[in-house]
Parts: sequence; structure tokens; C-alpha cells
Amino acid sequence: MFMQDTIEKVKEYWNSRPCNIKHSPSPIGTKQYFDEVEARKYFVEPHIPIFTDFSRWRGKKVLEIGCGIGTDTISFAREGAEVTAVELSEKSLALAKTRAKVYNLESKIKFYLGNAEQLSKFVPVEPYDLIYSFGVIHHTPNPEKIMEEIKKYAKAGTVVKIMVYHKYSFKVLWILFSFGKGAFWKINGLVVRYSEAKEHSPVTYTYSKKEAKELMKGFKITDMSVEHIFPYKISDYIKYKYTKVWYFRFLPKSFFRQLERHFGWHLLITAVGRE
Ligand SMILES: C[S@@+](CC[C@H](N)C(=O)[O-])C[C@H]1O[C@@H](n2cnc3c(N)ncnc32)[C@H](O)[C@@H]1O
Repeated sequence: MFMQDTIEKVKEYWNSRPCNIKHSPSPIGTKQYFDEVEARKYFVEPHIPIFTDFSRWRGKKVLEIGCGIGTDTISFAREGAEVTAVELSEKSLALAKTRAKVYNLESKIKFYLGNAEQLSKFVPVEPYDLIYSFGVIHHTPNPEKIMEEIKKYAKAGTVVKIMVYHKYSFKVLWILFSFGKGAFWKINGLVVRYSEAKEHSPVTYTYSKKEAKELMKGFKITDMSVEHIFPYKISDYIKYKYTKVWYFRFLPKSFFRQLERHFGWHLLITAVGRE
């Protein structure tokens, strides 16, 4: 579907608005800014620290694909992991580097700029304990190329943790009815246009569990789960206020959690490398 899209368009898009860059109103690059970005990210996406289990990787080697502005990168490094972080967008990478400096964690992180579809051309091939990629692989024109590259860095027992967008999700339904008048045959185009905070991400794929299994071929999947329904009013959220949309306000918490676990936007995959 996106074969015609060049990686240049993807890079331009993420340079124009690095992921989560507006998560804080404080001056960009300051400690306060990064603290607030982190607090907001893990407040609205509390499944991330559970999925990653940052402290488990103390003293281990972690390869992160698509680090963005480095929120999870810093969390791994702070917990004592040796991190290699790769990012396509110069703007995002520059902020991630600044962030490492601000927290005095530069010695724990090696940063590389480049297209992970060609990872082994610029990152030395060596085995890692964890290969991690959160919300990245569905934004690259050829996800299977990243997966092939990842295999070169995996040994038997390497843990691979990946989040890709979930096709059968509340978010897809919300996009369909908020912007597409229910025209389900246009859904792929609608998702591409409306999936991110800034419209028109050049590439956004979504995955069913079956498709995710196909993506992970060559690895042994040990866990697959679904999380994340965003319940807040966007008009308030962009002003850093967290008011729930009326229909989520009245939903019992336990029912909301069930909805998230079945129809969340984030498909969380854990796998291990094979011999
Ligand atoms: C939605 S953001 C997620 C960033 C980060 N993982 C996070 O959770 O905050 C997607 C990121 O993937 C990066 N990206 C997309 N395609 C890539 C590729 N082929 N190689 C490296 N990075 C890529 C983008 O530049 C962008 O920073």
C-alpha cells in the first residue's frame, strides 16, 4: 500500500513534528520539559512501563529502533541498561541526545541516525539482550525489512518487544465515524490521515493479531496483548487538562479496562529469538 512512499517523506514528517514534542509547555530542551514529557507519556500510556519492565534490563544490552525524542531510551538508561538507540529523524534524535546530556546519561547510550530498514549498514552487528521498538514499525514503508534487519542483532533468547497499531481497535472505529462517515472501504486512507497528532503521516499500517504473527515470523511469540484507549477530550488535552469524553466518564472502570484489552490501539508483542 505504501510502496511508493519514500523514506524521505517519513523523515520529513517526523522532523516537522517529533513524536510527543508537545507533551510539555515548558521550554524545549530543559530538564523540566523532559520531566513533564515523561510524566505525561506514562500517565496517558501507563502500559508502557509495564510492557518494557525497564529495571529488568539493568546491565543488559538494549537496541531501540525509532527512539523519537528518547522517553523510553532514558528510562532504560536510567535503570542501568546499555542502550543503542536508532532514529530516522534528525530533529528527534537531536532532542534525544540533549535529553541524555540533561540527565547525565550520555555514557549509557549510543545514538545512531538512519533508516532502520538498513540497520546493519550503520549500526555494528552484535547480539542484544532486548530489541525494543514502540510505535515505529507501522510508520516505515517496508516493516518486513526492519524485521529482517532486527534478526541480525538477535541471538537465541534475545527478547524482542514491539508495539504496532491494532487494526480491530476503538481508535480505528473512532476515525471511521469521526472523519469518514462510516465509509469503511476508505479506512486505510483515513487511518493514514488521522492516526497521529499531526495529520497526514505518510505511512501508518495497522495489524490484526494474525498479521502481527506474520510480521514476527522467525521469532517465537511469547505474549501478545492489546492496550490503550485514549479517553480524554482532545480540546482539553492539548491544554494539558485531562477531562474524559462523556461516554467514558460513565463507563465503569472495569468495563473500560475490558474494552482496552480487546479493542485498544496498541498491539504489544513479546517474542524471543530462535537458535
Ligand atoms: C510514533 S514515533 C515513536 C517514537 C518513540 N518510539 C516513542 O515511543 O516515543 C515513531 C518514530 O519512528 C521513527 N521512524 C519511522 N520509520 C523509521 C525507520 N525506518 N528507521 C528509524 N526510525 C524510524 C520516526 O522518525 C519517529 O520518531
